[in-house]
Amino acid sequence: MSSAPLAAKSLLVVTGKGGVGKSVIAAALARVLADAGRRVLVLESDPRESQHVLLGCEPSGGGVVTAAPGLFVQNVDPYAAIEERVREQVKVAALSRRICRSEAFRTFVAGAPGLSDVAVLGHALRLVAGAARGAPRVDTVILDAPATGHGVSLLEAPALVADVVGGGPFGELARDVAEYVADEERAALVAVTTAEEMPVDELLELCAALRAGVGRPPALVAVNALYPPWPGDDAPPGPHAELWRRRRAVNDRELARVRRARPGVIAELPLLALARGPALVAALAEALRPHAGGGREGRD
Ligand SMILES: Nc1ncnc2c1ncn2[C@@H]1O[C@H](COP(=O)(O)OP(=O)(O)OP(=O)(O)O)[C@@H](O)[C@H]1O
Ligand SMILES: [Mg+2]
Repeated sequence: MSSAPLAAKSLLVVTGKGGVGKSVIAAALARVLADAGRRVLVLESDPRESQHVLLGCEPSGGGVVTAAPGLFVQNVDPYAAIEERVREQVKVAALSRRICRSEAFRTFVAGAPGLSDVAVLGHALRLVAGAARGAPRVDTVILDAPATGHGVSLLEAPALVADVVGGGPFGELARDVAEYVADEERAALVAVTTAEEMPVDELLELCAALRAGVGRPPALVAVNALYPPWPGDDAPPGPHAELWRRRRAVNDRELARVRRARPGVIAELPLLALARGPALVAALAEALRPHAGGGREGRD
């Protein structure tokens, strides 16, 4: 088990299979932490921006936007994050532009496994350190990563890049990031799943890979979009009720598989008849709050 409560970490990486609710959970966690007095930024690296819809603010378009006091959103393009790093190292603007636009550099970026992940995580670290250009200082960055199959590859990428690239600005960045994500006091992985067979298969693989890789399970497993418990004899008759019963039976079976794997803290979150937006996020934040820990003591 992780030592610091979720609310006290400075980097939360939200991962899980495509479509299980990663973005909604990232937004809801941000609400919980912001309510606890943390300054939080949700960082999304998916070009399909969705955090502005969930948190009710302007689209980021690459910049930092304020969703509420102490709650920010940024959509970051991994290539832009890499370019920023080059600009910092090569202080002459015209030269760094030439490097970034060169075919050789683009080929290097496209071919280097994990470099984009490292760049995005590196940007997250700079946000936490208050060192990102044009961004406010924040206590916590919640990374809403696109579904990449395995969040663990995101966490393993820094060490891999550090090994492959060796020295230079990217090697150094990768080493810094690797050290950060390995530190359980500061960084944690939040795994999201629905209680269905394939997402749970993927979750269990993720937990096993995480144990083998970074040596710890996710700090929180959010089992999302659960059907309401089946009321048994009190259930209404008819085909809709039968559908409900069956879906919930699948949920119960898969929830039991998740529990057997003992992944740490499990938050069970209901399927709600609410559209993608702030009301859904607020309702899920209520359900997540008891699991985030830390109460309001995260406040500076
Ligand atoms: N608990 C819930 N109740 C009702 N609707 C939900 C719930 N969780 C997620 N949804 C809806 O499911 C859809 C997928 O959610 P979301 O976009 O957060 O998933 P994702 O894992 O981020 O997807 P992607 O892999 O495409 O990034 C959205 O329309 C969202 O509003
Ligand atoms: Mg998403």
